[in-house]
Amino acid sequence: MKFFVDTADVDEIKGLLDTGLLDGVTTNPSLIAKSGRNILQVLEEICVLVPGPVSGEVTATNAADMIREGEKLASIADNITVKLPLTFDGIKACYALSQKDIKTNVTLCFSANQALLAAKAGATFISPFVGRLDDIGSNGMDLIADICQIYSMYPTIETEVLVASIRNPIHLLEAAKMGADVATIPAKVIHQLFNHPLTDKGLEAFMKDWESTGQSIL
Ligand code: E4P
Repeated sequence: MKFFVDTADVDEIKGLLDTGLLDGVTTNPSLIAKSGRNILQVLEEICVLVPGPVSGEVTATNAADMIREGEKLASIADNITVKLPLTFDGIKACYALSQKDIKTNVTLCFSANQALLAAKAGATFISPFVGRLDDIGSNGMDLIADICQIYSMYPTIETEVLVASIRNPIHLLEAAKMGADVATIPAKVIHQLFNHPLTDKGLEAFMKDWESTGQSIL
């Protein structure tokens, strides 16, 4: 399973680089706004830091302008993935950009039928939002199960399931059990994945016993 970090904060990305965990990055207009940076500059910087796919989202709402924005974003670096909303125009833009071999990530997906549309339009990734479905009383993980099941029944579909709007480690665990291709995870949740009270307790006991030996490995 690939791990992307869901952030436009370069320091957060740098803090995770040496773990070897990062396979890519996703951003969206809200994350760019939160970073306070220029979208083109920050995406360029992220693309140098992380060689995997880096999603930059268009902000136009009509297909023609989405395509123009997508082409401009794609010119930043070879590893840019153009993120497009799952609207009629977004799907048209996805199809057009896919025909030009530009990688696409169709975002704001909330139904399995929408995921089918993205796959048929040649999307590289589909981003179903689990947390936002949970927020309105639906079960976000049910959507992931449906999309994984449907995509697996059609071997010609190459679109990867990128689980988005992850809010906690349980979302990630369930997505991994379903065989989702990618999870985009906030840095805070990536750090939570390391934690277990028995690890802390066990390490504390080992360190105490080791100290009593008076030895040193180095
Ligand atoms: C995905 O690409 C989105 O940027 C993101 O996962 C949205 O998450 P949120 O619902 O927590 O804002």
